[in-house]
Amino acid sequence: MAATAGLRAVIAGCLEAIVHQGASLDRELEAARLRVAVVRDQGFLQECVYGTLRFVFGLRFQLQTLLGRPLRKRDAVLECLLLSGLYQLRHMSVPPHAVVDQSVAACKELDRAWATGLVNGVLRNAERQAPALGAIPATLLEASWNHPLWFIERLRAAWPADWAAVLAAGNAHPPLALRVNLMRGSAADYAARLQALGITAQPVAAAPACLVLEKPVRVAELPDFDAGAVSVQDAAAQLAAPLLDVQPGARVLDACAAPGGKSMHLLELLAGNCDLQALDISAERLKAVAASGQRLGLACRITPGDAAEPASWWDGVPFERILLDAPCSGSGVIRRHPDIKIHRQTADLTQLQSTQHKLLERLWPTLQPGGKLLYVTCSVLPSENDDILLAFHAGREDCRVLPLAVTWGRATGYGRQILSGENDMDGFYFGLLQKRPDV
Ligand SMILES: C[S@@+](CC[C@H](N)C(=O)[O-])C[C@H]1O[C@@H](n2cnc3c(N)ncnc32)[C@H](O)[C@@H]1O
Repeated sequence: MAATAGLRAVIAGCLEAIVHQGASLDRELEAARLRVAVVRDQGFLQECVYGTLRFVFGLRFQLQTLLGRPLRKRDAVLECLLLSGLYQLRHMSVPPHAVVDQSVAACKELDRAWATGLVNGVLRNAERQAPALGAIPATLLEASWNHPLWFIERLRAAWPADWAAVLAAGNAHPPLALRVNLMRGSAADYAARLQALGITAQPVAAAPACLVLEKPVRVAELPDFDAGAVSVQDAAAQLAAPLLDVQPGARVLDACAAPGGKSMHLLELLAGNCDLQALDISAERLKAVAASGQRLGLACRITPGDAAEPASWWDGVPFERILLDAPCSGSGVIRRHPDIKIHRQTADLTQLQSTQHKLLERLWPTLQPGGKLLYVTCSVLPSENDDILLAFHAGREDCRVLPLAVTWGRATGYGRQILSGENDMDGFYFGLLQKRPDV
C-alpha cells in the first residue's frame, strides 16, 4: 500500500513542530507514530522525517528556487509538506506521481485546500528540473553540506583535515550497534545467534562487547533483548566504562546518568558488584535507567538531582570514580539526532561551556584523593572538550591529567577524540583526571 495523503499530512505536521516550534525529534516522532496505525507507514514516517531533517538545508535551497518567494509564516506546515515531498523525490524510491498526487491531496488534510495548485506546480517542477536544481553551488556552504554555517566554520577551524568527513558522517544513516551483555555470553556467541536468524553483525576491535549490524532491525527482533542479552549503544559510547578502571565494590558516581547506557555497561563489566549512584537532573529520563536496570537485572542507586549542587544529594562519603558524561552540543551524534542541525545555535555553546565547567568544579570535591574522574562528551568541538579540561586543570594543583593507553581515536592535548564516522562510530571525547593523593 502506498503512503497516503493522511500520512503525508502527519509528516508535515511533525516536521513543522520540530523545525518551526523547536519540538524535539524523538518526542514529536513518538507522538506522530501513535497517529499511524500501519507498521510499514511508521517506517515511511520515520524515514521521511529523519531524512528531511538530515538534508533540510539543501532541500530548503531547492524549495526557495522553485517558489521564488517564501511562504507566509502561518503556512509553515506547507513548507514542511513540500520539503518532505522534495526529500521523497530526491532520496526515496517513491514513484514521483505518488509523491505529487498524495502531497496535493494532503493539502486538504492540512486545511490548505487553496494550496493544491501550488504544491502540484512546485513538485512537478522539482521533478522536471531535477538535475539542475540538485546542483547546489559549492559556495553555499549550508545548502551543499547540509549543516549550519556556524558549525561548518568551527569544524573547519578545529579539524582542517577532517571537517568534510565529519560533515559527511553527519549526513549518513547511523548503524545499529549493540552492546552484548558479557555476563550472559560472549559477543561471538550472540553474533552466531543473530546469524542463525539471517542478521549479519560485525565485531568492533576497540569495543569487545560491541556488534554492529549490517542492516538495522527492530529491537523486538533481537534474540533475548527483553531478557537482557543485549542493549543498543554505539561503539564509541562503549569506550567510556572501561576507561574508568573500576575495582569490584568501588563507590562510583555517574553524574549525568540518564538514559543509563554507560551506567549499565559499568555494572555489566563488574557483574553488578559496584556501589553505583546514577544521578541525573531529569527525573523523567531516569525512568529509562530504572527500566534498563530491571531488564538487565542490575541495580544502582537512582537519584534525581543537580550534579552542580552536591549538597542536595551527596552523603559526604567521597567517590572513588566519577563519570561526568556532560550535557553538550551533541555535535558528534548529529547522524542519530538530525534535529540538532536546526535546534543548536552557536550561542548555546557558551551556555554549555559554562555548565560543563561548573559541573567539573562542583563535582571535584566529591572525588576521593587518588580517585579518577572521566570527562566525556558526544561532541567534536574542542571548546567543549580539551578547552574545558585545560581551563579546569590550569592552576589546580590537586589535579593531574592521566594519559589514556588506547589505540583508538586521536590524542588531543588533554584527552582522546573520536571524530564522527571514524570506524563508523559516533563522535566522542574522553579525558581522564585524577585527584592527586599527595596535595
Ligand atoms: C549525554 S546525556 C547522558 C547520557 C548517559 N550518560 C548515557 O550513557 O546513557 C547528558 C545527561 O545530563 C543530564 N544533565 C544535564 N544537566 C545536568 C545536571 N546539572 N545535573 C545532572 N544531570 C544533568 C541530562 O538530563 C542528560 O540526561
